[in-house]
Amino acid sequence: MTMADDLAITSVLKESRSFAPPKAFAKAAHVGSLAAYEKLWKASVKSPETFWAKQAKEHLQWIKPFKKTLEWKRPFAKWFIGGKINVSANCLDRHCVTATRNKAAIIWEGEPGDTRVLTYQDLLREVSKCANALRSLGVKPGDRISIYMPMIPEAIIAMLACTRIGAMHTVVFGGFSSDALADRNNDCGAKVMITADGGWRKGAVVPLKVNVDLALEKSPTVKSVLVVKRVGEAGGKITMKAGRDFWWHDAVDSMANTCEPYAADSEHPLFLLYTSGSTGKPKGIVHTTAGYLLGATISSKLVFDLKADDVFWCTADVGWVTGHSYVAYGPLSNGATILMYEGAPNFPDWGRLWSLIEKYRVSILYTAPTAIRSCIRAGDQWPNKYDLTSLKLLGSVGEPINPAAWMWYRKVIGGNRCPVVDTWWQTETGSIMISPLPGAVSQVPGSATKPFLGVDAEIVDKNGKPVGKNSGGFLVIKKPWPSMLRGIWGDEARYKEQYWSQIPGVYFTGDGARRDKAGNYWIMGRIDDVLNVSGHRLSTMEIESSLVSHECVAEAAVVGRPDEVKGEGIVCFVSLQGGLAPSDKIRDQLKAHVAKTIGALARPDEIRFAEALPKTRSGKIMRRLLRDIAAGRQSTQDTSTLEDLAVLANLRQEED
Ligand code: WTA
Repeated sequence: MTMADDLAITSVLKESRSFAPPKAFAKAAHVGSLAAYEKLWKASVKSPETFWAKQAKEHLQWIKPFKKTLEWKRPFAKWFIGGKINVSANCLDRHCVTATRNKAAIIWEGEPGDTRVLTYQDLLREVSKCANALRSLGVKPGDRISIYMPMIPEAIIAMLACTRIGAMHTVVFGGFSSDALADRNNDCGAKVMITADGGWRKGAVVPLKVNVDLALEKSPTVKSVLVVKRVGEAGGKITMKAGRDFWWHDAVDSMANTCEPYAADSEHPLFLLYTSGSTGKPKGIVHTTAGYLLGATISSKLVFDLKADDVFWCTADVGWVTGHSYVAYGPLSNGATILMYEGAPNFPDWGRLWSLIEKYRVSILYTAPTAIRSCIRAGDQWPNKYDLTSLKLLGSVGEPINPAAWMWYRKVIGGNRCPVVDTWWQTETGSIMISPLPGAVSQVPGSATKPFLGVDAEIVDKNGKPVGKNSGGFLVIKKPWPSMLRGIWGDEARYKEQYWSQIPGVYFTGDGARRDKAGNYWIMGRIDDVLNVSGHRLSTMEIESSLVSHECVAEAAVVGRPDEVKGEGIVCFVSLQGGLAPSDKIRDQLKAHVAKTIGALARPDEIRFAEALPKTRSGKIMRRLLRDIAAGRQSTQDTSTLEDLAVLANLRQEED
């Protein structure tokens, strides 16, 4: 890996202009000046335990107070030891004894335009009923529940219901295939699944229950399935297996509408979320109760400067960590109103997002650079048609945002009025780690700026030595933080190896970054074999193993190439089994095969055939060479003909 080369490109970029927090915004903000942020941050990293203990008492409601703040036996952390707490009680019950009980918790709009509003009281009732139904299916604390849902309120109800009874959820994004779903179910031994007959996306039905049926042929641990009726007849015939499958409206609606919250230990496992690493198999990231909730709660409040009258819209799907922390847990724990939208941003046209902001007077929008870039491409006429003056803050997450997209977001969507927070974090970190606090820190297009409170970040070389200003290096976190992952499900060795061994003594993020002379962080993207396609993490090896599982393929190597809209596109170099001639038919078959085995989100953008893959003398595939070719940095022939990569490889043997 020659990270230095990749990083050099960005370090020659000129420092961009910066935008100070607007005065009126700063005046009303939770943290309203740079001095206030710096004071808080310094104290938080100097005495993290004192800082976090205070925050935990202030921001969370405990069933039993904790005795000790942190036990750190690297790389294993335990936070808030001795405490008992329930996540759903923090997100719901504590708001139902105040005036917040009648406030909208979820304002929802389906893709076809149907709407629902659930107050905190409504949500507590629905969550309690669902929790009772899960209990009646034999779910016990610690059991794994797999959730495969469209973006409908029941997805959040199901997640909160799991937390209410101490069960762990593992939400699988609805765009994953039945094979990917079965793998995840099997890895964690899921006992129950919660799904829907389908969901709406771009005017068509996503056949979730059909996928579940296929997955369950291969994942025998699942004994019961709850099925929400979302699309009805439009979804075609739904097969309900007697004794296994239950309609939500039969199994949940008749349940008692109160349910005592489970008194979970602070370190009780809360959820599992699968994400891609640098090997073929996705890893189940484990988060636990109190620390995760604290991270999600306090970051929601401070990074988005959440106030009682906000309408907060995070466009992420609940299948991703952003949907966990900033659609569900963070905002609800703060008693905020969230907007939830089921469908595609361009249905029926590219005005949909903006029409929703106008209709519901959304004040905070949190979305991904890919979405922003697609909207730029669709044209300013769409946002310009709508009244977006309710917006007060904009956020970005999931991938690096290029300064041009940042500026467009600020100008066209934010009317040059709203601060823009570029938030860097990961499934593993549980909550936002680097981001401006909007009332305190000047925003710089393309930079995630400063670390969040309690976050001790550094940029180092491979020996763990800090690099100088403006030099590229590895982004690491030096101290444990409450919402950090507690491990990889069933694979302690991999947890230690991936995060705590590559650079001595610190948490290794897998990202490259640099810090400028003002102390702002510039994230440069993954330095491992992880792709970031439209803000979705995919491992090159996962796609390679899918390709080689196809009968035509002898060998495959997958690399990313820059893509104007998606951030990265997927390019596959494939050598075929002896005797097979490359053809468009095989190319289409391979694309379809990857989409079937992983999900449509992993469908290759390009398949290029090669006689053999270029390897170094020690037998490693020369990925840099392939990345150069994929990005068009080497002259190549027509893509439909075989590439003579061996010749190019010979010219590059110095990489060995
Ligand atoms: C990338 C999503 C640049 C990064 C919350 C990280 C970002 C990976 C940013 C985690 C950002 C996330 N700027 N890159 N603001 N946010 N990333 O686990 O490479 O789906 O390691 O979590 O996305 O992706 P994940």
